[in-house]
Parts: sequence; structure tokens; C-alpha cells
Amino acid sequence: MDIINIFVEDKSGNRQHIEIPTDINLNLMEVLKASEYPVLGTCGGMALCATCHVEVLEGDNLNPPQDQELDMLDTLPAITSGSRLACQIPVRENINGIVVKVLTE
Ligand code: FES
Repeated sequence: MDIINIFVEDKSGNRQHIEIPTDINLNLMEVLKASEYPVLGTCGGMALCATCHVEVLEGDNLNPPQDQELDMLDTLPAITSGSRLACQIPVRENINGIVVKVLTE
């Protein structure tokens, strides 16, 4: 497989499909930002700003959140059980088929 498929669900439940080549070394925040979703990524991916907050709707094989990410998520007023910081999700084959909702609006 040389393509990673990412789906972004909007408020109406419509899903947009993003295809990323496997050899690109990016995290999900960078991909969403490059695709012009409202993801600022102010801290540059250091798990310090939460402007990359997403809800993972589908995706079982993700790397688990580390303490720094969990601490940051704890400060947010509206987290869900699928809340993640997109900058802490490397875009690799294990996330193929992931469905996320951007929660920064
Ligand atoms: S870009 Fe700042 S927490 Fe993800």
C-alpha cells in the first residue's frame, strides 16, 4: 500500500477523502492544515496549544496518547472520548481509513 486514506467528517456528516502518500513524513495536524481545515497548529506540533483538536470517529490502530497530550486534552472544555491532538498522530499506514472530525471551530 502506498496511499494512506484519511476521511474528515463535517458537521453535516459528510466525509471528505484525503489521500496521502506513505512516504510523506507528516502528522495529522500538518495534513489537515495543508488541506485548509481550520487547524492552526500554533505550537508547531508540541502538544501545547490544542488548536489541532480532533475527534477520532473511526480508527482502532492509532498510537495511544502520551501524558503530555492527555494533560493538554484535560484543559479543554469540550472533549469527547475520541478526542486527540492531531499533531500527536503520525500519518503512517496504521491510521489508514481513519475518520476524524475537526473540533477547533
Ligand atoms: S499543534 Fe499545538 S497541540 Fe497540536
